[in-house]
Amino acid sequence: MGCKPGASLIFSFRDVQVQVEQKGCAGGMLSTMKPIQLFDPASSTYTYVLFDQSTRDALIIDPVDEQIERDLDVLREYGLKLVWTVETHAHADHITSAGKLAELAGAKTAAPHGCGIGTAGVQLAHGDTLTFGGEVLRALHTPGHTAGSMSLVWRHHVFTGDTLLIGGCGRTDFQSGSAKDLYHSITQVLFDLPDDTTVWPGHDYKGRQSSTIGDEKQHNERVTGKSEAEFIAQMDALNLPKPRRLDEAVPANLMSGQRQDAGGVLFMEPRPAAGPHAGSYAGDVTPQLAWQWVQAGEAVLVDVRTDAEREWVGFVPGAVPVAWKQWPGMTMNSGFDAQVKNAAAGKKIVLLCRSGVRSIAAAKRATELGLEAYNILEGFEGDPDAQAHRGQQGGWRRHALPWRQN
Ligand SMILES: [Fe+2]
Repeated sequence: MGCKPGASLIFSFRDVQVQVEQKGCAGGMLSTMKPIQLFDPASSTYTYVLFDQSTRDALIIDPVDEQIERDLDVLREYGLKLVWTVETHAHADHITSAGKLAELAGAKTAAPHGCGIGTAGVQLAHGDTLTFGGEVLRALHTPGHTAGSMSLVWRHHVFTGDTLLIGGCGRTDFQSGSAKDLYHSITQVLFDLPDDTTVWPGHDYKGRQSSTIGDEKQHNERVTGKSEAEFIAQMDALNLPKPRRLDEAVPANLMSGQRQDAGGVLFMEPRPAAGPHAGSYAGDVTPQLAWQWVQAGEAVLVDVRTDAEREWVGFVPGAVPVAWKQWPGMTMNSGFDAQVKNAAAGKKIVLLCRSGVRSIAAAKRATELGLEAYNILEGFEGDPDAQAHRGQQGGWRRHALPWRQN
């Protein structure tokens, strides 16, 4: 392939067009656009920070829980605003810090839709893009290491997670892995990228930092010169030990790294309505549990705030608005009974308000109407802090759950 610095190549796979800029041949502007590569020695995991050089909007790929202070330092040092955290898959060897970064840095979370990471605000499908400033990251579905695994393309770089490693590839013997799928993902999807695309792997155990698609086509010991059948036979014969942190890491990573026993209370179980409310509605649930139920199709999320609050503060995509009271004057919504029955459509309902007061009143009323109604703890905005500001302590928005603002 001829070198035309700054030129764009476009190729397509499964109807997804990918635009890849070619590197400058003699070290031009484009060749300076590199990710910041960070390494976790305990798990040999690479984390990447990409950013827009003018707006300083940044995106982090595969952040590691134990390295959150380092990563926050990097953001401060470079003057970056973290817009996205992105996972290449649900990891078995380390726990992600995505949930914490959402809380501490205000990032939104994204993960491949086939990975079961229900807490991620954006569930990436093949070809989806994430923007940070003027930069674009595009997701390519590259199953095999796990069924949902994705590789992420930015400019002339590809972040391959555990799909393609330098001189190797991820294992395929657990977590819905498939050697056949991995062979296809590497040889048909990744090797279809231009040869000078820089490969940034999810791990390296020998201190190597990056490679190129061209080099991997020629020198990858697992893949080069092997037929699909030979590749599968080789992967089947690896007999690798179970990853040390599999049992701990995967469940935590399905929750963006948030531990299920946080706060010493039952985090993913409903709690019976307590105190003066005992028995008057089905129970209280954490925002995370509510979202899990909604994603599983078990419950309908009903937002009982006013139209003005949803409009000005933000809203949860897919929630059904049924105001408990309305501006002006916070008068009762006379249509509540009919609207909430209609919203439930035979399912249980989880009720969200600003801080968890109106949602209890609404849950009691819905229970009187014969519905199975739960109150979502903390509400959308959480509790006020010492300065009476909301949005700092608890609440839907601080748990890495999806929400939007008009
Ligand atoms: Fe992995």
